[in-house]
Amino acid sequence: MKRLASIVLTLILSSFLPAVSTMAEELPAPDGKALWTYMTKTSPYVGWGYWPGRYGMYEGTEPHGAHLKVFANGPALRAAREGKPMPAGAIVVKENYGMDGKTLMAVTPMYKMNGYNPEGGDWFWAKYNADGSIDKEGKVGGCIKCHEAVKDQNWIFNKAE
Ligand code: HEC
Repeated sequence: MKRLASIVLTLILSSFLPAVSTMAEELPAPDGKALWTYMTKTSPYVGWGYWPGRYGMYEGTEPHGAHLKVFANGPALRAAREGKPMPAGAIVVKENYGMDGKTLMAVTPMYKMNGYNPEGGDWFWAKYNADGSIDKEGKVGGCIKCHEAVKDQNWIFNKAE
């Protein structure tokens, strides 16, 4: 009886634990909807932490908006702090606010995925309206052309401070 109980327990644990650990680590597909669900529900970006040196809202430069906030997930933050290349799974999210510094105009993330688009630094780009609807997604030419200027910096303009 004891043996049966331990077999049952082992079976339960072995089917349950891997599911929990993959759930926590599972990254979204390179898809606008999947990324939005991930970064607003699975692992809400507002809880990740600000880009090192960009704590809170700051005055932005063209074309992104008058006021910006930049968040980064764990892998991106670690690499930024250590001055290392961005690893697969790194996500950097920028919130773009209007002149009033209150109205969210757009959310523009970049999400690193090995092999996704080597010519574009393997970043998946997206632009969401404030309500989460997708404006642009994928290998977005505009994002790539401009961010290419800082390709030796992981395609990221902001230097980690
Ligand atoms: C014309 C140039 C230009 C275009 C087009 C552009 N960006 Fe940027 N982006 C910038 C600059 C400049 C910054 C730094 C802004 C700042 O911090 O003041 C920036 C910052 C960012 C950041 C914060 C990380 C960083 O690089 O510092 C993200 C994320 C981002 N952009 C995503 C996007 C996405 C997604 C698109 C396309 C939908 C896009 N950008 C299009 C110039 C551009």
